[in-house]
Amino acid sequence: MNMVDMILKKKEGKALSPEEIRFFARGAADGSVPDYQLAALLMAICWQGMTAEETACLTMEMMHSGSVVDLSAIDGVCVDKHSTGGVGDTTTLVLVPLAAACGAKVAKLSGRGLGHTGGTLDKLESIPGCSISVSQADFIRQVQEIGCAVIGQTQDLCPADKALYALRDVTGTVGSIPLIASSIVSKKLASGAGAIVLDVKTGSGALMQTVEESIELAKAMVEIGAQAGKPILALVTGMDQPLGTHVGNALEVKEAIDILSGRAKGDLLTVSLELGSRMLVACGVAKDVEDGKARMTQALESGAGLKKLREMIEAQGGDGRVCEELAYLPHAAYKISVPALASGYVAKMDTTAIGYCAQGLGAGRREKTDVIDPAVGLVMDVRLGDYIAEGDSLATLYLNKPELAKDAVAKMQQAITITKQQIELPPLIYAAVSQDGVTR
Ligand code: URA
Ligand code: CA
Repeated sequence: MNMVDMILKKKEGKALSPEEIRFFARGAADGSVPDYQLAALLMAICWQGMTAEETACLTMEMMHSGSVVDLSAIDGVCVDKHSTGGVGDTTTLVLVPLAAACGAKVAKLSGRGLGHTGGTLDKLESIPGCSISVSQADFIRQVQEIGCAVIGQTQDLCPADKALYALRDVTGTVGSIPLIASSIVSKKLASGAGAIVLDVKTGSGALMQTVEESIELAKAMVEIGAQAGKPILALVTGMDQPLGTHVGNALEVKEAIDILSGRAKGDLLTVSLELGSRMLVACGVAKDVEDGKARMTQALESGAGLKKLREMIEAQGGDGRVCEELAYLPHAAYKISVPALASGYVAKMDTTAIGYCAQGLGAGRREKTDVIDPAVGLVMDVRLGDYIAEGDSLATLYLNKPELAKDAVAKMQQAITITKQQIELPPLIYAAVSQDGVTR
């Protein structure tokens, strides 16, 4: 197999054969194809795209480049949920315990924060004692016993994706639908779930900023599921503002607990119920989405979801008392409000900039080796469409290094656009994509 021929073939817009795709995926995993040839091929794929067959083939090759988790010891269909990444996006901590309380089995491998987006593992680790590295046997036992576990992925899951993703990150080749779709779905398939519900974010805080591109990405991932014989369905949901009001690790855990305690509602709960109800349908617990929503709501109102979160935290070595007493979560030393510079309607948010602002306070990593401060972040005091008077608070910053405040306040003021005219609110749920098609 000749990599130069393969690069030229893709440069001319031709489809690669399954053997060629296998060659470069394996070469990425074992290091036998040099980075410069992989990078050139990735760039050619960015420009020329891949057919549905090529994308499915790349997904399966990446999935089989490492170990595949076997969840067959767990009774029933294991269901997983994955978000393409957002800001204030804590749906996992809300819907996993609710779905498990309804009888679903959720064996979830989550990730860390990436760029401006937060990661569930970092959020869980803000709970004192909570561990996300659990052995395979304990992981399966925990799901079997309490219905859910959320842990980090093992070292040898999808090594081909790990190598290609690291290259894409530094060669301007992240933004390609076949590359993103195969990257996400390969990891989900390798993590062993029987059914997968995807949350494809769209808008100013998302990987894909237009609705049409987001629907294309959702369709590509659903199509891979069809080819692999796994039911995958996707919702395209809004990331035109942080989904929840809290951005930062312990702050987002607090918001999830507030929701599960019935003290808070809002878009984060709405999207969690939409996704969670579809998970219940996908694993056979609910007969349709309406039934799923009724069950999830019942688990919320009875407190069964909160109880399940506590069980999960304690099974993973964490201090479950955080569920009843928020004082057990880490708290920041300083609280500073971001005043609006003008009166008017909140018309637009640069959600990516808001995510980076929280990262800058210490909630995320700028470099791989950075250590996160679990307590810091921000809480949004306004949502799109709100009227605000000059000087009122747009957001509250939570920080441990007061010297960071001035810059963060300015960044937040810049990220939020205030206009004299009221705006039309963007939708929260844009579309549902399944093998039956796209419903808007
Ligand atoms: N998340 C992934 O896992 N892969 C991508 O390519 C993009 C987002
Ligand atoms: Ca099974």
